[in-house]
Amino acid sequence: MKHRLWLFLFMIPASLCGQISLQERPFDVPYVPTKPEVVAAMLRMAQVTKNDVLYDLGCGDGRIVITAAQLYGTRGIGIDIDPERIRESRENAAAAKVDHLVKFIEQDLFESDFHEASVVSLYLLTSVNLRLRPILLRQLRPGTRIVSHNYAMDTWKPDDSTVVMINDQSHSVYFWVVPANISGIWKGAWADGGQATDFSLKMEQHFQWPTGTMILGGKEIWLSGIRLSGDRFEFTAKSEEDASLPRLVFTARASGDEMKGSVEIIRPDGRSTRRSWKAKRELRSAKALDAEEWEESPGPPHLGSLSPTIGSCPPLGLGRLRIP
Ligand SMILES: C[S@@+](CC[C@H](N)C(=O)[O-])C[C@H]1O[C@@H](n2cnc3c(N)ncnc32)[C@H](O)[C@@H]1O
Repeated sequence: MKHRLWLFLFMIPASLCGQISLQERPFDVPYVPTKPEVVAAMLRMAQVTKNDVLYDLGCGDGRIVITAAQLYGTRGIGIDIDPERIRESRENAAAAKVDHLVKFIEQDLFESDFHEASVVSLYLLTSVNLRLRPILLRQLRPGTRIVSHNYAMDTWKPDDSTVVMINDQSHSVYFWVVPANISGIWKGAWADGGQATDFSLKMEQHFQWPTGTMILGGKEIWLSGIRLSGDRFEFTAKSEEDASLPRLVFTARASGDEMKGSVEIIRPDGRSTRRSWKAKRELRSAKALDAEEWEESPGPPHLGSLSPTIGSCPPLGLGRLRIP
């Protein structure tokens, strides 16, 4: 009897097995299409271009990737668990004559590989976004843009947002840039006239909001003006205690455990020089961007807390950093 059951199972074609397992898994979100005005706002907010690769996770009838292909010539991939939606998406892409630019995959978004995306669009639920959040942070490269219709990501506050009104109904659009993880201890140096100036950085980070201090010449200096967008960041180091020390304005690009950039050394008399610098992160000193133990940092003694606490991050709209 047992043998017969196994024989029966082996006789089921593999493709059908795939369908059974996908269909058995309940959908995480019901199908509700995004209205065209909101699709347009999402694509505008993500500044989608023909150089992007757009993934819509839970693509429905494919309208977001199809519209991006039509308006901007963007390559797109739509992923949906529902075979009916995938069929519809492929028909819609053919009718819109963009099927050479887009692809639709019947798959559970929690099992999909979207690391090549430069833009990800979502119209899921907050609870689903939160399950997806660590996967987004793990898979996506720093600088990847994420845009979501109506549902945010709790403590990962958006870099920007807008509201689209349609017949007295408001639709929120949220926008994030995946930040590089620059947390940890960094040992760096810049060369000045053949002489190296060494320093170290101790960085804490909660999503796109880092805080930190620099040890330079045996002194600890609180970093100010820290801004991080994708893999680019900038900060200023100025000793509050010793006015004779220069103000140091750093810009940098982070790549894994290395970062490099330039530092402008502005002396108290206003004269300034620019030098290149590099730093390496100490092994295993980085922490996850969504580490929940991130707590309010005391900040420099005379200023009180400088760092945003969970749930009280910088106001929306501050996040778009442009470093030439
Ligand atoms: C609210 S609709 C959004 C459709 C489309 N993105 C849009 O904005 O018009 C959510 C879609 O997610 C799909 N979905 C739900 N759970 C999923 C899962 N685990 N993996 C992939 N797709 C899923 C549903 O089939 C549905 O088409």
